[in-house]
Amino acid sequence: MKVLGIETSCDECAAAIVEDGKYILSNIVATQIPVHAKYKGVVPEIASRKHTEWINLVVQEALDNAKVEVKDIDAVAATSRPGLLGSLLVGLGFAKAFAWARGIPFIAIDHMLAHLYAPMLEHTVQYPFLGLLVSGGHSIICRADNYDDITVLGATIDDAVGEAFDKVSGFYDLGYPGGKVIDDLAGTGDSNAFKFPLPSLHKGDHRYDLSYSGLKTAAVNQLDLFCAPHINKPYKLSDIAASFQKTAIDILLRSLFRAIEDTGLNTVVAGGGVAANSYLRSVLAKHMEVNRELTFIFPSMELCGDNGAMIAGLAYQYLLQGIHSPLKEIASARVKSFKRGYP
Ligand code: KG4
Ligand code: ZN
Repeated sequence: MKVLGIETSCDECAAAIVEDGKYILSNIVATQIPVHAKYKGVVPEIASRKHTEWINLVVQEALDNAKVEVKDIDAVAATSRPGLLGSLLVGLGFAKAFAWARGIPFIAIDHMLAHLYAPMLEHTVQYPFLGLLVSGGHSIICRADNYDDITVLGATIDDAVGEAFDKVSGFYDLGYPGGKVIDDLAGTGDSNAFKFPLPSLHKGDHRYDLSYSGLKTAAVNQLDLFCAPHINKPYKLSDIAASFQKTAIDILLRSLFRAIEDTGLNTVVAGGGVAANSYLRSVLAKHMEVNRELTFIFPSMELCGDNGAMIAGLAYQYLLQGIHSPLKEIASARVKSFKRGYP
């Protein structure tokens, strides 16, 4: 079964064709980053206008690269939440029209569940496992019992981790989006130059929660408070990047390892743009070497960020169960209220 998956929740205009929930026949991502870079962030009105201009071309390219025609597509799926409303509406409207015109099933997809499905396109993983969903808009540590059954153990109580990378990068004029830029710059910096504190979230309900507003403030205007004695002012940007990145990822790791210990779940599946972070990947790889019982599964770089393949892949799982969405399905900017729980 060939599914066309469309993703337009933010600044990537993406379409992919995936066969049987696993085989990626094509995966086209047209990024709007150059369009928004000069504003140091995504401008929602410009994003939705660009999606409107690009969506036909992107879907056509996905069909061409997969060497299939419109008549070969068995179902069509699109992200319906969460995201920028104007952007979501373009992909969702396109998918509904495509489904209606062809008389094929339409499936509305949750973006966060799709990020968690992305590694399944490349790996076989048994449920249950722990999910680490880290993107520009959300940061969630969850228990996954099925592709659409997750229990949130912890989430950010303020900014998302990717958002913190973007804001710190924006403040120092390093470029947009900030994650990759800071990751690259950190490679030449001293991660012990600044001793930024971890948030004090360790009790009861907040045991697995995350917080980034304090770190963000520290990294942009409280450097003097946290510089290590060996640092000579003026500060080097690479040192700020390396110290910020280390703390941002250590905040994630602290909550993640608590969850591993408390749940006894030894497999962690990561998804979302921040899953591309090299420090995160290298720390977890070292943990796997030391403790052979632990398994950390990351999507390949192309599948960390927003893409249509994860949308088409997850849609196939719904189709297998005979689940379709009605054409009156609406878009929502808000993240779904997943059930919350504690081990
Ligand atoms: O999943 P994604 O493409 O879009 C959302 O759903 O938000 O994630 C984008 C986020 C941005 O905040 C970007 O700065 C961050 O992922 N990101 C990274 C890296 N690459 C992208 N953050 C840290 N390290 C990276 N290498
Ligand atoms: Zn995303």
